[in-house]
Amino acid sequence: MTDMMVDSATTISSPADLAALQEQLAAAAEGRRRVLVCSTGCLAIGARDVEATFRSEVAAAGLIGEVDVVQTGCHGLCAMAPVAVIEPYDIVYGRNRVKYIPDVISQTVMNGDIIRRFCYGRDAEMAHVDDIPFYAHQTKRVLRNVGRVDPQKIDDAIQRGVYGAAGKALTTMEPDEVVGEVKASALRGRGGGGFPAGLKWEIRSWTAPCSRATRTAFWKA
Ligand code: FES
Repeated sequence: MTDMMVDSATTISSPADLAALQEQLAAAAEGRRRVLVCSTGCLAIGARDVEATFRSEVAAAGLIGEVDVVQTGCHGLCAMAPVAVIEPYDIVYGRNRVKYIPDVISQTVMNGDIIRRFCYGRDAEMAHVDDIPFYAHQTKRVLRNVGRVDPQKIDDAIQRGVYGAAGKALTTMEPDEVVGEVKASALRGRGGGGFPAGLKWEIRSWTAPCSRATRTAFWKA
């Protein structure tokens, strides 16, 4: 696992600071070998054992520090559970089974070779994220990083640009500008009611207005 570069001593005062940090973190992560194991719905069909076996096999192969095994959110292909994505190749494997993991590490993680049986449609031509028809018709915006960020490492989120909008809002915008942006985005709650997020933020600002000096950030996803 890579060492954390961001800690409590890290100060970010402007979007430029954040962009510079993002660039630095992205350069450090370039080409990194990672196994991203879905650890949400896939848990119901053995993802925990799959992840644990990836970790133990990585250790047994002396690859700690070279290969990271990461718990992530859903990769979308839930029908192929348990699902894992292998970086830096962006190879998607479904129907992962514990007994095959040593093969996945030696062939795919270390060499980028494709094992057809785990591919979408069991077709090696559809091994990579960009070649899978299921993803071809999707344009992810709010969820574009789902399944790709290590939720336990803020470095990982920053290097994928997760905090770009928050950094801009907190350092360069007035509260009413932020509310206006969220209203214009037409972002709605995802809990079932679909309440407009911008309107909710506006109502919040009526009841407890904040100045640039006393900022309140609240988020819901
Ligand atoms: S729940 Fe695992 S891929 Fe969707």
